Amino acid sequence: THQWRGIIEEYRDRLPVTASTPVVSLCEGGTPLVLAQVLSERTGCEVHLKVEGANPTGSFKDRGMTMAITRAKEEGAQAVICASTGNTSASAAAYAVRAGMVCAVLVPQGKIAIGKMGQALVHGAKILQVDGNFDDCLTLARRLSDNYPVALVNSVNPVRIEGQKTAAFEIVDALGDAPDIHVLPVGNAGNITAYWKGYKEYAADALSTHTPRMWGFQASGSAPIVRGEIVKDPSTIATAIRIGNPASWQYALDARDESGGFIDEVTDRQILSAYRLLAAQEGVFVEPASAASVAGLLKAADEGKVDPGQKIVCTVTGNGLKDPDWAVAGAPQPVTVPVDAAAAAERLGLV
Ligand code: F0G
Repeated sequence: THQWRGIIEEYRDRLPVTASTPVVSLCEGGTPLVLAQVLSERTGCEVHLKVEGANPTGSFKDRGMTMAITRAKEEGAQAVICASTGNTSASAAAYAVRAGMVCAVLVPQGKIAIGKMGQALVHGAKILQVDGNFDDCLTLARRLSDNYPVALVNSVNPVRIEGQKTAAFEIVDALGDAPDIHVLPVGNAGNITAYWKGYKEYAADALSTHTPRMWGFQASGSAPIVRGEIVKDPSTIATAIRIGNPASWQYALDARDESGGFIDEVTDRQILSAYRLLAAQEGVFVEPASAASVAGLLKAADEGKVDPGQKIVCTVTGNGLKDPDWAVAGAPQPVTVPVDAAAAAERLGLV
């Protein structure tokens, strides 16, 4: 039997570690690549979902965090800090526990999903809610790590990108070659940067015959890359990507241009519609930000930008349980029945 060992052990030769590096892992990565039957039918393509909510803390952040905390440990850090819309902080908090480190997190007040807050709390992180947005949190985190003994584990730390690029390796390993198109939600733009790096590395070593076109989607109210200017007061129900000044902005443009792709926006309505489709028709429960990739694919298909017959991978970045409010909102209240099979059967429409 083979137990998946986490991305550092599985891709050790492609990551910046040595034989003596103290690996901090929760066996992240090795996530499912699920064929999406309804999306494939809708687009006339072969559409797969890279289900990153299956990672240990429920998002793709674990791939970068195993690297960032491993490196921090190697360098003797005793405390780490991050700014976050919720998932990075959940991941940092968990990996810091494994490493025996203190974890400080800065989150925008009132703008992170309940599940993510619960994770940071239960893992014992020191949480500060900042009276500002994610961009303000990141500015503050950078200042603190510049001036105090605490290591920054946001994706501006290049080892985060190294860890996250392994998702592209897994996809090529599973499909036997790169897909034609890769679709991602874009927030701080670290992940699109990381996938593009991973695809390029595999192609350079002839482990794939080509690289995919990279399609990124921002939420309309938080679409600085699409607008070409900083968004001062970003808004969207997809709080994970509520970001007005992405740190990896230029790298995202490079990924777009080098791959022949594009970065576009999707409305909150389109995000929620894709969110419901994924859950109700594909059986995959993601958080709203994750559905931006699928919303974007459907938008592109409606605009005639998707030629049939292509292999497409959409990354769905985080687990639906992170932000359960959206699953419950607007859904009918379940009815209450007595302990009575006939009454239950009638309510279920079985008779
Ligand atoms: N999807 C989810 C679920 C996220 O949590 C994030 C980013 C993204 C997509 C966007 O990825 O930033 O690499 O472009 N979340 C960060 C956080 C900002 O703090 O957890 P990106």
